[in-house]
Amino acid sequence: MTGELSPIDKAKFVAAKRAVEYVEDGMRVGLGTGSTAAWMVRCLGEMVREDGLKIKGVPTSTRTADLARQVGIEVISLDEAKWLDVTIDGTDEYDGNLNLIKGGGGALLQEKIVATASDMMVVIADISKRVETLGAFPLPIEVIPFGLQTTQALVEETLVSMDVLGNNVTLRMNGDVPFITDEGNHILDLHLNRIGNPRQFSLVINQIPGVVENGLFIDICDAVVIGYGDGKVEVRDINAGTVQEDRIDFVENENLFTDLTD
Ligand code: 5RP
Repeated sequence: MTGELSPIDKAKFVAAKRAVEYVEDGMRVGLGTGSTAAWMVRCLGEMVREDGLKIKGVPTSTRTADLARQVGIEVISLDEAKWLDVTIDGTDEYDGNLNLIKGGGGALLQEKIVATASDMMVVIADISKRVETLGAFPLPIEVIPFGLQTTQALVEETLVSMDVLGNNVTLRMNGDVPFITDEGNHILDLHLNRIGNPRQFSLVINQIPGVVENGLFIDICDAVVIGYGDGKVEVRDINAGTVQEDRIDFVENENLFTDLTD
């Protein structure tokens, strides 16, 4: 990557840089997906290469697996790891209880499985991801290809009786064809505007047979690290009930910033 980073990329980078402080020698680490998580994978790669950090990484997508290997992180499967010490991932939205909407990158299923199998989930984000009420970002749900249109109709019918402000459902596309997840499924994006009761919504939507999983992460995230373009970071820990402010010195390092494609 050449030239100055944008303030938003700086915010993502400093959040990632602060979050990797949770990672210690010998840990098994869940590696999230998306542009913010990509910074985190690069930061960890740098710690492996330059500081001799010894970790095993469990990626949440083929994209992240490729990047992790490229930067020098040993990649293992979740079944090899069995349980993880910490997962660090991005988010599309987080609220005051650190409940999330994820899946903007289409990796919500593996992300949810990996985060749930971790002692701790740390989310990294810039402040634009903070919302009062979840739902402005369209909620992704992963659905199997069999009976796709029937499943979509059942989802639409279910929305009528839910505490939401919108009911438009769209099939995520990749150019002219439906988007396909790493598990060979499709994504329906639910344009709800506001989800009144995310916990109930998550339970109800998952009852529809063709729905594999939804992008609501309820009571999964333990801490959020919020980055700002000026190097400030804020760490909110929901279990400890603490908010810490910090500052990350921003030094553009060639190793870290080259070939960032995510
Ligand atoms: C991928 C995700 C991402 O974490 C989420 O979309 C945030 O991405 P970004 O950091 O690029 O804004 O859930 O499925």
